[in-house]
Amino acid sequence: MGLAPILIVDDESEMRSALSHALTRSGFSVESAASGTDALVKIKKDPISLVITDLKMPEMSGMELIGAIKKIKPAIAVIVITAFGSIHNAVEAMQAGAADYLLKPFSFETLVATVKKVLGCMHEDGEIQVSKKAVKSKVTVKTLIAEDRKLLDILKLAKNVATSRSTILIQGESGTGKELLAAYIHAHSGYSDEPYVALNCAALPDTLAESELFGHEKGAFTGAVGRKMGKFELAKHGTVVLDEISEMTPPLQAKLLRVLQEREIDRIGGSRPVPMNARVVAISNVDLKKAVAERKFREDLYYRVNVVPFTIPPLRERRRDIPLLVAHFVEKFCQINQRDMLKISDAALACLAGQQWKGNIRELENTIERAVLIINGPELLPEHLFLEPGDTKGSSQAAISIEAGMTVKEMEKELITKTLQDVDDNRTRAAELLGISIRTLRNKLKEYKQEMEASETQTAAQGG
Ligand SMILES: Nc1ncnc2c1ncn2[C@@H]1O[C@H](COP(=O)(O)OP(=O)(O)OP(=O)(O)O)[C@@H](O)[C@H]1O
Ligand SMILES: [Mg+2]
Repeated sequence: MGLAPILIVDDESEMRSALSHALTRSGFSVESAASGTDALVKIKKDPISLVITDLKMPEMSGMELIGAIKKIKPAIAVIVITAFGSIHNAVEAMQAGAADYLLKPFSFETLVATVKKVLGCMHEDGEIQVSKKAVKSKVTVKTLIAEDRKLLDILKLAKNVATSRSTILIQGESGTGKELLAAYIHAHSGYSDEPYVALNCAALPDTLAESELFGHEKGAFTGAVGRKMGKFELAKHGTVVLDEISEMTPPLQAKLLRVLQEREIDRIGGSRPVPMNARVVAISNVDLKKAVAERKFREDLYYRVNVVPFTIPPLRERRRDIPLLVAHFVEKFCQINQRDMLKISDAALACLAGQQWKGNIRELENTIERAVLIINGPELLPEHLFLEPGDTKGSSQAAISIEAGMTVKEMEKELITKTLQDVDDNRTRAAELLGISIRTLRNKLKEYKQEMEASETQTAAQGG
């Protein structure tokens, strides 16, 4: 490929030769240096594509070396090697400009994969560079608000899996923050400076879909005047987000399956497949499993996509997030509209907290945006919200009424009834929320029904 050599810097000769061997075997040309000073001499003199350096060295440390390289030849990428247990050094090195790090002990595969990844980001065959700018639809950093345990747990897990390359499936109702979670995962992936390419599968015209996703060669079909890279290729080592994946046509589903299985892409009219390096995040607001049962979505593809699944609960099931979200959106729209921060009245907050929010966070956001626009005074009041009165149905302010003198049994009934209302009578979901089995829930409901019937007969008897 005509790539400039990789320079290995380590004071231990065994380490140097082990790394040299592994990289030479993988087809790279390699040079080595026993100290930072030596390394700098070579860097000034010879072309070097990449430096792999130990952090702990006598004389000049790896950190100092990074600093010097960034001064004299900032285009050279640096990978640092650090001992397990001193990951903070690696983090520091990344902040100083290292492209990646290797934790000792590491396998040769990891070494080679990391080198390829870092070199891959720098340059592929010339053409790609051009398109990179166009695609680098920089993930606009949006604040993600979370206070409710359910969402916090999701974020924690998301952060943990973000650095892996596993395919992720995000499900949830419309407006729950699925795209935001995808962006969050990309931001915590450790490759966030790589492209983030999002694609709405429902918006793809049939005829263009394949070339959008997989690209085409020049002359592959009438109108294919130039070579075009597909989204998977454009994403490089970054993230491809496939939104509304359930809407993919069957032929595209088959092609996607191949991409995920073989990690290879076939450009239309291409003679050989190209490797696929991106991480895939699929999003769906319909239950994909149900789509499989209805034969709208391929089962084999479902299993490929559903490697790490996330389901974002609707807002009405995580009402604890509401106050913070309200404050966040009020602040956001006050800023956008260049007005002083509004005070949020308790009454308005209570109204907001009691809504059903079928459109979830998007609906809440729109409600606040509209309110901020129309308010003249300094305070957000219920009348600024224009909430449909009927919409609070079932939510009952999310508070269940407990009074002294109530039996535990009555409280339980109240809680179960309210929970069921909140989840639109979805018993599985209600059981989950209540922390009881679906069978227990069913038995309780049967019990209530019997009680009700009994009391009805009694009243009827008394009345008659
Ligand atoms: N936790 C959150 N904190 C702050 N803003 C949020 C949060 N969740 C969602 N939002 C905002 O709500 C709006 C909707 O979120 P997003 O587009 O991610 O939802 P979605 O699940 O992809 O919706 P759809 O299914 O309709 O495409 C966005 O403006 C987003 O920034
Ligand atoms: Mg979306």
